[in-house]
Amino acid sequence: MRPRRLRRTAGLRRMVRETPLTVNDLIYPVFVMEGSGERVPIAAMPGCDRHTIDQLLVELETIQGLGIPAIALFPVIPAAQKDNAGTESYNPQGLIPRAIRAIKAAYPDLIVITDVALDPYSSQGHDGLVRDGVILNDATVEVLVRQALCQAEAGADIVAPSDMMDGRVGAIRAALDAAGWIEVGILAYAAKYASAYYGPFREALASAPKFGDKKTYQMDPANGREALKEVQLDIAEGADMVMVKPALAYLDIIRRIKDQITLPVVAYNVSGEYAMIKAAAQQGWIEENSVVRETLLSMKRAGADLILTYFAKQVAQQLTSDI
Ligand code: PBG
Repeated sequence: MRPRRLRRTAGLRRMVRETPLTVNDLIYPVFVMEGSGERVPIAAMPGCDRHTIDQLLVELETIQGLGIPAIALFPVIPAAQKDNAGTESYNPQGLIPRAIRAIKAAYPDLIVITDVALDPYSSQGHDGLVRDGVILNDATVEVLVRQALCQAEAGADIVAPSDMMDGRVGAIRAALDAAGWIEVGILAYAAKYASAYYGPFREALASAPKFGDKKTYQMDPANGREALKEVQLDIAEGADMVMVKPALAYLDIIRRIKDQITLPVVAYNVSGEYAMIKAAAQQGWIEENSVVRETLLSMKRAGADLILTYFAKQVAQQLTSDI
């Protein structure tokens, strides 16, 4: 055997390539803020901005033109609108519902995925309601249900609970169905770890926890079997797709889940993973585009069907030009 035979030319390599990376695999996360005519760069995420709704529409024309099928929307909520009850998270006139309506009016085919969690709305910076330093589970789920209904009402295609409260997928599914939103899907952040890789994202939204950490609801990075338990629960409760987050340090988890379930598996290539590559590339220490493609390929090879990544636009531009 001479395995090198099949590596001799680009054509041969292309023929025997096992793992495709295509624009259909990509979900682009975007940050929306109040105001008009503005884009504000995010320091630790070069190339990513917070957009006012009108500017976001301009950006999404490019995204749609590149053939990226879906976006994930995250809001920057003004401090004055934050409270410990997450009230603003289900305001029908709030930033996210207005953004959804504007996007759907301009680009009806672009799939809009919305984040269901209280941290951008919480004066405490936690994903749930806080009482005496404890993140309440069931009381939070009630608010998450209102938030998901509000997003569905505004036109979200898929709601994505990222809060890690127990039982929220089932509660959201039941409420969506009862309200007639049977076609709104749920992408469950099923295996979401208490990770240090979320730092740049929390800076982008000014949503860092005001006290403590998120270890009583997000998973311990040491645990693998527990991810399977979380996935089984979310599927039993009605999830349409499940997510592993972060991705790069958790490729083994993606593979283990993929081997056990039939639903689409989504990998979240998070802000810290993005920042590491950008920082090294800015120093001239790595070749950015190649490292980005190799990194996203590793997630697909591990078993991800879809990748939520801040690199989506950049990769889509490369894929349409040179692969
Ligand atoms: C919170 C949420 C976080 C991210 C997405 N949704 C941060 C957190 O859990 O603190 C992080 C994404 C990223 O780092 O890119 N519900």
